Amino acid sequence: MGNKQYKITVIRGDGIGPEIVDEAIKVLDAVSHLKGFELKYTDALLGGIAYDITGVPLPIDTITSAKNSDAVLFGAIGGYQWDNLPRELRPETGLLGLRKAMGVYANIRPVRVYNELIRASTLKEDTIRGVDLVVVRELIGGIYFGEPKGRDGDRAFNTMVYSVPEIERIAHVAFKMAMKRHKKVCSVDKANVLDSSQLWRDTVIRVSKSYPEVALTHMYVDNAAMQLIRDPKQFDVIVTCNIFGDILSDEASMLSGSIGMLPSASIGDKVGLYEPIHGSAPDIAGKGIANPLATILSASMMLKYAFNEIEASECIEWAIAQALKDGYRTKDMSQYDAKEICSTSVIGSVVANYVGKCKK
Ligand code: IPM
Ligand code: MN
Repeated sequence: MGNKQYKITVIRGDGIGPEIVDEAIKVLDAVSHLKGFELKYTDALLGGIAYDITGVPLPIDTITSAKNSDAVLFGAIGGYQWDNLPRELRPETGLLGLRKAMGVYANIRPVRVYNELIRASTLKEDTIRGVDLVVVRELIGGIYFGEPKGRDGDRAFNTMVYSVPEIERIAHVAFKMAMKRHKKVCSVDKANVLDSSQLWRDTVIRVSKSYPEVALTHMYVDNAAMQLIRDPKQFDVIVTCNIFGDILSDEASMLSGSIGMLPSASIGDKVGLYEPIHGSAPDIAGKGIANPLATILSASMMLKYAFNEIEASECIEWAIAQALKDGYRTKDMSQYDAKEICSTSVIGSVVANYVGKCKK
């Protein structure tokens, strides 16, 4: 056992953000204790709270702290009270700016169905049992960032734009991921209508030549939305642009029973950002009922991708599976098979406890 030390910038954000991040830290502390490495946390502001305190949703200090860390752990941002701010001051603009500043172009969103939660899904058991797919979402391009954008009286516009290098780098991430999994990539686009999608498709095909073992298919996004519900097991790695990935991953989260279960890793060439795929859920903020598992799983992805602490990462996954097996559920996944409907902090403690018993 060494005394390795990792620096984590912690961004709690708005709504349920602080509650769920606290539980992830509880679990991280348990696993770092178990595995004998040290975690150094530095808090940073982002989103509505950053606007309230500093006047901007993305303070320079946050970017500096993020860039000087080994990883960034992030909860959620946004809330009703900031919805009418001019766009440049909105919490969401802060998050997009942070992703851009960190250069995290690949957002990896694994969708896994825990057997214990099969009945929590609104879909049929046969359809979802064994689902194991990953959405690789391009994160710092496309219509989210394209120029020109804006409002001109009664007209408003955004631009969906991609360049070849932007598509190439995300395609490489998807193919490399597929090589470690079931060697299937489905590229999702709207090439029958959009020029940026035709370029996407042509470029993905070219990149695929470097990965002859990977079977590449293409799907239009409307069909993909349907296929995810009809037969989600057909998918291994889905690679798609920013906005399609945003939409499809929320859809895919319902395969797992709750959007509160889906973590993500946003990676680029430098420091990564680890964030649940869900939002700040202002309607339940402060009630202690939010599901922290997506954030805890994001912390597990951080251990794996950022620190290469594979055993520690697996211990967290194992601990979550144990907690679910024992019937611990937060409210969002409590319809069936719950022995105990617990608060955010109780399920966090249960997972942290199990981590302490991990034998990996
Ligand atoms: C997500 C969120 C963000 C996005 C919002 C909050 C800007 O929905 O991470 O999926 O659209 O990327
Ligand atoms: Mn989203």
